[in-house]
Amino acid sequence: MEFEFIASFVQSKIRTMKKREKIRFNKPYLSGKELYYISKAIYRGHLSGNREFTFECHEFFKLRFGFKKTLLTTSCTDALEMAAILLDIKPDDEIIMPSYTFVSTANAFVLRGARIIFADSYSDNPNIDPISIEPLITKKTKAIVVVHYAGIACDMDVIMAIAKRHNLYVVEDAAQAIDSYYKGKPLGSIGHLAAFSFHETKNVISGEGGMLVINDDRFATRAEIIWEKGTNRSAFFRGEVDKYGWVDIGSSFLPSEIIAAFLYAQLENLDDIQSKRKAIWKQYYEVLKEIVSSDTFSLPIIPDYASNNAHIFYLVLPNLEQRQNFIKYLRDNDIYAVFHYLSLHKSPFYYNKYKGKELPNCDRFADCLVRLPLFYELHYKQQEEVTNCILEFFIKNRTSNLSNLEK
Ligand SMILES: Cc1ncc(COP(=O)(O)O)c(C=O)c1O
Repeated sequence: MEFEFIASFVQSKIRTMKKREKIRFNKPYLSGKELYYISKAIYRGHLSGNREFTFECHEFFKLRFGFKKTLLTTSCTDALEMAAILLDIKPDDEIIMPSYTFVSTANAFVLRGARIIFADSYSDNPNIDPISIEPLITKKTKAIVVVHYAGIACDMDVIMAIAKRHNLYVVEDAAQAIDSYYKGKPLGSIGHLAAFSFHETKNVISGEGGMLVINDDRFATRAEIIWEKGTNRSAFFRGEVDKYGWVDIGSSFLPSEIIAAFLYAQLENLDDIQSKRKAIWKQYYEVLKEIVSSDTFSLPIIPDYASNNAHIFYLVLPNLEQRQNFIKYLRDNDIYAVFHYLSLHKSPFYYNKYKGKELPNCDRFADCLVRLPLFYELHYKQQEEVTNCILEFFIKNRTSNLSNLEK
């Protein structure tokens, strides 16, 4: 008896020892050169912004994606706030955007007093459905902000045509969209302005970080001024004016050289990062497509016009309850999957201000979408554990549904 007790104790110990490490949702990628470049910036004695590493990052984006003018910022939120200032958004201007997005997309314009007019997503894809845009346009509409969810392009030809017809600006919230394309054009190069994020959860990171892309030349000079606290310091540095001072509104939007140095070390490895992430994405897709059904989940849809930068791998479950059970089941197995945005039109901040229609597609993604672990270092074995756990969840679910039917 005693022996049995000891044997089971030892066995349980071995089981705990064997217990694998939890599978995180995200692990920030490091190229290995970040500290070297940061020390280079320190050695040069240039730590504030708009110096060598900032120039190198700007040059990278110009050469790689043909972005005419870029300005690194301390976040995508900052880049969006710069966009709202540049478009001269005034109280009561109306801005159309999807409700299925991060708060910063809306906050940037709310800070200038604008009213946000929320549009719905497609039924099978979280991006803004262009059909839902035109009925929302009024005399007060100033801009359309699109969000390329998961780095997958919105239908930009249709959206740009609507904007042209009604004389509106288009801002691309390209927070997740680095190295992704619409009919071969890089995302971020199509709207009048675009904002990227280099937050630690993105494909390319600098801790916190972002970038404004200025595609419309009319905004180029003023963008630099807003970026540099409302001064013409950039022009002074280039020797275009003999002193610099306060010429407009602005803020401290530019990041330090330490952040730019970190980012540059990542950008140099963009191709490697992308190919690794795409392989992981494809592996999830190949395994999980075998069990897609109306009882399990649907998979991301990539329209013909869009590329996939493998920023997010998501599933859409049939309802909120199943999504929560699914996340819990994975978490009980030490796998961290997470949901994403909550409908902004139903948020505590906007609920009472929202006068529009129901947005059922947005609400469905808010309730049913779940993101799986996806990061550079996620290795094949771990990915297999994630997909096995998912299969197990649906087998158990099916068995319990069948036994409920039999009762
Ligand atoms: C669509 C979207 N826009 C803006 C942001 C804000 O980005 P940041 O954290 O760089 O300010 C996020 C954050 O993930 C986002 O998902």
